Amino acid sequence: MNIKNVGVVGCGQMGGGIVEVSAKAGYHVVVLEVNQAFLDKGMANVTASLDRAAKKGRITEEEKDKILGRIKGTTSFDDFKHCDLVIEAVIENMEEKKRVFAALDKACPPHAILASNTSCLSVLDMAMATRRQSQVLGLHFFNPVPVMKIVEIVKTILTSDDVVAAGRAFCDSIDKKSVLCKDTPGFIANRLAIIVVIATIRAYEQGLATKEDIDLTMKLGLNHPMGPLELADFIGLDTLYFIACAMYDELKDPAYLPPVLLKKMVIAGQLGRKSGKGFYDYK
Ligand code: 3HC
Repeated sequence: MNIKNVGVVGCGQMGGGIVEVSAKAGYHVVVLEVNQAFLDKGMANVTASLDRAAKKGRITEEEKDKILGRIKGTTSFDDFKHCDLVIEAVIENMEEKKRVFAALDKACPPHAILASNTSCLSVLDMAMATRRQSQVLGLHFFNPVPVMKIVEIVKTILTSDDVVAAGRAFCDSIDKKSVLCKDTPGFIANRLAIIVVIATIRAYEQGLATKEDIDLTMKLGLNHPMGPLELADFIGLDTLYFIACAMYDELKDPAYLPPVLLKKMVIAGQLGRKSGKGFYDYK
């Protein structure tokens, strides 16, 4: 299938990144937010990221303007009426995701593929909110989207092979490697990596070592780009807590049971980088 026009629902950290890489690859992109203020904030982040890329010489000022010219912000689902692929990147709440998929199903042309960027929720449940279940798949990007080179393609038991092939072709076109996985909690990356992050928080909670020494060991001893506690702050402790709970609920594996410290930090509003404080201070 020939994808020309891409839609993105949500212009937060992940949605904004998906908008940026899609427009950079030459797609016309429509991005939807719940209101104008959220849209302005999201677009300001996309513009700032492209400004940084231009300053670093990765794109020219002229290319930057062309990329921005291919992005249209909206607050109405009606603007998805010409989209061939729409990627949902809203909060990790199944009721909200289902509401978005039902609205997309109404607004998008019959041939359009609908994708979710969920990190751990069932893509099949979202597909069931539409009348085009075979055209729904997961496209799970990683943060920061412009930097991370991989996308997990999630195939539900109803996703057609043609739609998976179109998903793969889209990932190729935006210069991302893709891997195919089943619609199971956490897919590949979170199923494996979350265990390490949770085990690290638990070890820190039990007084194994200082947070700095734990992270330094993982960075210098195992060549991780960030220590697990830094990574937890980067992902967002609320997001991490949500993923851990969702995975434990589904898999009943105690490896995913969120540590008490993580829960307390979320209750205290210590959410990591985005709130200015998590395991580390960012103010
Ligand atoms: N947007 C665009 N480019 C960015 C960026 C962003 N948000 N953040 C960093 N970069 C670029 C920088 O411009 C820089 O480019 P250059 O080499 O051309 O100058 C390059 O990335 C390196 O950045 P920095 O020098 O500022 O900092 P670092 O070397 O520390 O790299 C990092 C930052 C790329 C974030 C690196 O620390 C890293 O890879 N961390 C691990 C990230 C990770 O694990 N992500 C996955 C999270 S889990 C997830 O997303 C799944 C979800 O479901 C929870």
